[in-house]
Amino acid sequence: MKVLITGGAGFIGSHVAEFFSRKGYEVVVLDNFARSEVFKKDKKISEYNWNYLKELKNVRLVKGDIRKFEEVKNASRGCSTIVHAAAQVAVTTSLADPFLDFEINALGTLNVLEAARINDSSLIFTSTNKVYGENVNKIQIVERENRYEYYDEKFKEGIPEDFPIDLTGHSPYGCSKLAADVYVQDYAHTYGLGTVIFRQSCIYGERQFGVEDQGWVAWFLISSLLSKTITIYGNGKQVRDVLYIEDLLRAIELALSKISSLKGEVFNIGGGINNAVSLLEVIRYIEEISGKSLNLGFSEWRKSDQKVYISNIRKAKEKLNWDPKVSWKEGIKRVYDWIIKNKSLFSAY
Ligand SMILES: NC(=O)c1ccc[n+]([C@@H]2O[C@H](COP(=O)([O-])OP(=O)(O)OC[C@H]3O[C@@H](n4cnc5c(N)ncnc54)[C@H](O)[C@@H]3O)[C@@H](O)[C@H]2O)c1
Repeated sequence: MKVLITGGAGFIGSHVAEFFSRKGYEVVVLDNFARSEVFKKDKKISEYNWNYLKELKNVRLVKGDIRKFEEVKNASRGCSTIVHAAAQVAVTTSLADPFLDFEINALGTLNVLEAARINDSSLIFTSTNKVYGENVNKIQIVERENRYEYYDEKFKEGIPEDFPIDLTGHSPYGCSKLAADVYVQDYAHTYGLGTVIFRQSCIYGERQFGVEDQGWVAWFLISSLLSKTITIYGNGKQVRDVLYIEDLLRAIELALSKISSLKGEVFNIGGGINNAVSLLEVIRYIEEISGKSLNLGFSEWRKSDQKVYISNIRKAKEKLNWDPKVSWKEGIKRVYDWIIKNKSLFSAY
């Protein structure tokens, strides 16, 4: 089987590429190194995942841009499966340059869908919880000592897939990903394509070069290593359900194995209620495993930030027979160990 991974030089894409390569699939990775803009000074970081994949069997690396249909079409030739993980990923960038954000996330996804249609490929799309936008903030919450919690019993297990997406603020990133998400659903409806949408919460893992506005778990761990100051926007009691990368890979494999019965389905994929943690709780835990205090600074809440977001993963449990296996403490410890082992990588931060 031949698989195309868009965004394969990124965090999630490179893990997906490795996963399929180790299973013996032929893997094509398409990426334009947009991420390297964030690490201009240091190729060691920006090309790390790309160079890592070079060492693996059956992986072909294609430098190309999902905004250019011909490039996607050529890379996807003969691929029966596509995992679409290329994106403009930062809310902050989407606010500064909405055209760029739209072209990559919305138009880029349409290009990937058209390529999938030519090849009749199955497609997994890495969407985001941000599609629910500020509607999430309309749920009543209570403030506890170290975290916020949903007050409304209805959301005890988190946000389900039928949660409203209309009549709310999103941020341009939320809009472009939502447009893509709806297109991916619709290509199943209109063209009968085998597509599945994962609305992901915070995914974390090894080889994630987190920065302040994306990949916060890795960012906190790297900041601890380098004794950098972490700015907390708000009071740190905001809660997210975090999911370790290995668990996401299992969910992708399960969805692909059942794709003909799941066409156009949407799944909220995250650590769920058992892995819902506040920033303060993660900070305390990092202090515990590293044996040193983190330097914290506090600033105003950021616009559009959700105070609590927890994925209700019941549908994924029932339809994919999937459940996160790695607890947040175990997963964070694994990433901590990886960062310590690869200290020299982070000198340019
Ligand atoms: N990491 C998370 O917590 C999380 C949460 C929700 C959704 N997502 C989604 O998962 C996907 C992967 O995220 P990630 O964390 O691996 O981010 P990442 O930035 O590490 O990876 C994205 C990759 O896409 C590439 N890319 C960007 N624009 C491109 C273009 N025009 N053409 C080709 N390649 C391009 C980048 O160079 C990068 O390698 C994204 O779609 C993101 O929206 C991630």
